[in-house]
Amino acid sequence: MKAYQVSKDYSISSLELVDISYPKLLPNQVLVKMKANSLNYRDLMVVTGYSSWKPPVGRVPVSDGVGVVVERGSEVTSLAVNDRVAGLFLPKWIDGKLTDEKVGGSLGGAKTDGLLQEYAVFNESEVIKVPTFLSDVEAATLPCAGLTAWHGVTEKGDLKPGSTVLIQGTGGVSLFSAQFALMAGAEVILLSSSDEKLALGKKMGVKHLINYHQMPAWEKNIMQITAGRGVDHIVEVVGGSNINRSMDVIALDGTIAVIGLIGGLSAELDTVKIMSRQIRMQGIEVGSKEMFSRMNEALQHYQIHPIIDQVYPFEEAKSAFYHLEKGATGKIVIQY
Ligand SMILES: NC(=O)c1ccc[n+]([C@@H]2O[C@H](COP(=O)([O-])OP(=O)(O)OC[C@H]3O[C@@H](n4cnc5c(N)ncnc54)[C@H](OP(=O)(O)O)[C@@H]3O)[C@@H](O)[C@H]2O)c1
Repeated sequence: MKAYQVSKDYSISSLELVDISYPKLLPNQVLVKMKANSLNYRDLMVVTGYSSWKPPVGRVPVSDGVGVVVERGSEVTSLAVNDRVAGLFLPKWIDGKLTDEKVGGSLGGAKTDGLLQEYAVFNESEVIKVPTFLSDVEAATLPCAGLTAWHGVTEKGDLKPGSTVLIQGTGGVSLFSAQFALMAGAEVILLSSSDEKLALGKKMGVKHLINYHQMPAWEKNIMQITAGRGVDHIVEVVGGSNINRSMDVIALDGTIAVIGLIGGLSAELDTVKIMSRQIRMQGIEVGSKEMFSRMNEALQHYQIHPIIDQVYPFEEAKSAFYHLEKGATGKIVIQY
């Protein structure tokens, strides 16, 4: 079967499409024929060997994928052949709070192979059925970007109708976050580098749109929009020193969901401001299977379709990575 592997040059161009043997099935596992993968910013970090995301040579990258069960082990009871499932980004985080044991072994990372391959095996508990109203392409976007946004906005958001939410950018996590914030009845403020992408936000129902290139001092706009209060909730996908800018526009007692690291891995922060404005810095690590299941119910109930930028055939996976590197609007997907 075909699979992509990270090569010693750690670049998109050097990703290798190789023939590997079919995975062996254990009694508690299912064999899944992959149908679609979606790409996340983190997959770029793995492929290019960035910092602690650098995997060993030969790693099959990409955390997210949806496929169909084609064979099941003798001990498997909850899944049947033809069930459509997604792998869990954090295969060990089934429910409850995150622990050191549950956070290890993320798919397509430094320690575990991912899903950019024609077939994959999973332990029975480490997949989840996906909503039937979604296409394979749409469902493939849920495990990382969808669930992270759900966790950051819905599980940790405490949003009410009229709450204000600041969303940075129009990538995968950002547009899912906008959808979940709108679902909760919140008033969304969307930042983007492009008017074209903001127009998409407007179509989705976002009320306040700011081009952060044209308005580099966007903090002022946000304070005007919120009549000086600041926003209740921020989806911080940029990270690094950008968190200081978020701290300038967060309302008293507001929450900053710290998700991204596009802007760097560390920053100097005004800790007095965190204290005196009672800011909750809520780190988000994707999410659990239990949260995934709640997200699926909401997607079904509100008929929310993930926003897809472009779909590439499996053979053109490198083009999909280049597109992600340039910047996506919503999700980039690879289809088999
Ligand atoms: N903690 C977790 O569990 C978790 C899970 C998933 C992702 N992440 C992280 O979250 C971040 C986003 O991931 P993703 O997969 O959604 O990435 P993505 O699809 O590549 O989207 C990135 C978007 O960020 C926006 N952006 C970049 N610089 C910005 C700035 N200075 N201000 C506002 N927006 C800016 C851009 O939007 P415009 O083009 O509209 O300007 C860009 O399209 C990454 O750092 C990723 O590693 C973390």
